[in-house]
Amino acid sequence: MGEPLLEVRDLHVTFHTEDGVVRAVNGVSFDVSEGETLGIVGESGSGKSVTMMSVMRLILDPNAQFTGEVIYKGRDLMKLSKRTIREVRGAEIAMIFQDPMTSLNPVYRVGWQIAEQIRAHEQVSAHAARVRAIELLASVGIPNPEQRVDDYPHQFSGGMRQRVMIALALSCSPSLLIADEPTTALDVTIQAQILRLIKKLREEFGSAIVLITHDMGVVADVADRVAVMYAGRLVEQGTKHEIFNDPQHPYTWGLLGSIARLDGPRPRRLATIPGTPPSLLSLPDGCAFAQRCACRFERCFTELPPLLSRDTLLSRDPMPNGHLDACHLTSAEKRAHRAASLAKERT
Ligand SMILES: Nc1ncnc2c1ncn2[C@@H]1O[C@H](COP(=O)(O)OP(=O)(O)OP(=O)(O)O)[C@@H](O)[C@H]1O
Ligand SMILES: [Mg+2]
Repeated sequence: MGEPLLEVRDLHVTFHTEDGVVRAVNGVSFDVSEGETLGIVGESGSGKSVTMMSVMRLILDPNAQFTGEVIYKGRDLMKLSKRTIREVRGAEIAMIFQDPMTSLNPVYRVGWQIAEQIRAHEQVSAHAARVRAIELLASVGIPNPEQRVDDYPHQFSGGMRQRVMIALALSCSPSLLIADEPTTALDVTIQAQILRLIKKLREEFGSAIVLITHDMGVVADVADRVAVMYAGRLVEQGTKHEIFNDPQHPYTWGLLGSIARLDGPRPRRLATIPGTPPSLLSLPDGCAFAQRCACRFERCFTELPPLLSRDTLLSRDPMPNGHLDACHLTSAEKRAHRAASLAKERT
């Protein structure tokens, strides 16, 4: 893996609402290296989208507040002017959203939008850009791209719009692609096609990818590293191998289910865990997962466990890219709990 391309440090995002302060992201730090694919997983509402939208400075809610650093190629994106950040977004970082209409403009033909995106960052003729737009539409599996290039977004079905958005995102050959549930709305064949396209982007352009997904099969297929989010915090991160074969946090055990192994059968979706996450309006002092955790003890309710490497308990700072988790249990206790729960499920 290369140098860090993106370094997120102690990101906090709050929304000031009528009901109170929603603490959507609470001190999230992670790195994305050049050319690597980071999978972000976690239950609905855990802050995956808000984290990555904040990194891109795409949260426009006037009631939102942000602190922390987002260093991309040495520049803090949080400090850039609106204009500069727009330039970085178009030329360097692309995002595929859960909702395609967030990135497509309804009043322009899709081919024009793709061609404009290309021409904003590359010196090519209008004709060459249009040809590229048609090629891109073909590469994401749009039938009759020569005709469809002149259609408006509303003339495409939901799944087709998703693909148009992906074509738009790929048009600038981004150094970093952020894909938020890019395949959820699509059928299985198209899903596989899109994932192949994302892999191709990595292979051909060396793009780094952050992939937000509920689908552990997708994570196992394309991610190099995995970050697990719970209630606006990272609770574990590690290589795909570490997360699937040696998960440390009881929440990760829950998500994976006991059968999840890289070399064995894997669940397609995250397993369901009894109970619900705490309200982001009133997070507990201790571990946010404690209420649902089978291994909890007193300290879990009073003290927030920091994200640490179990091998080097001293390396709190700076954040290494290692296998980190936020749990008060010792390694030996985790091993014992995990072995006991696996044994119980086998009987
Ligand atoms: N503008 C807003 N005002 C208030 N709360 C918000 C706002 N935007 C997001 N939130 C809250 O922030 C929390 C995190 O939301 P986010 O969309 O990041 O979750 P997610 O992990 O992406 O979930 P999903 O898997 O369902 O997409 C949620 O509780 C959400 O309700
Ligand atoms: Mg989301």
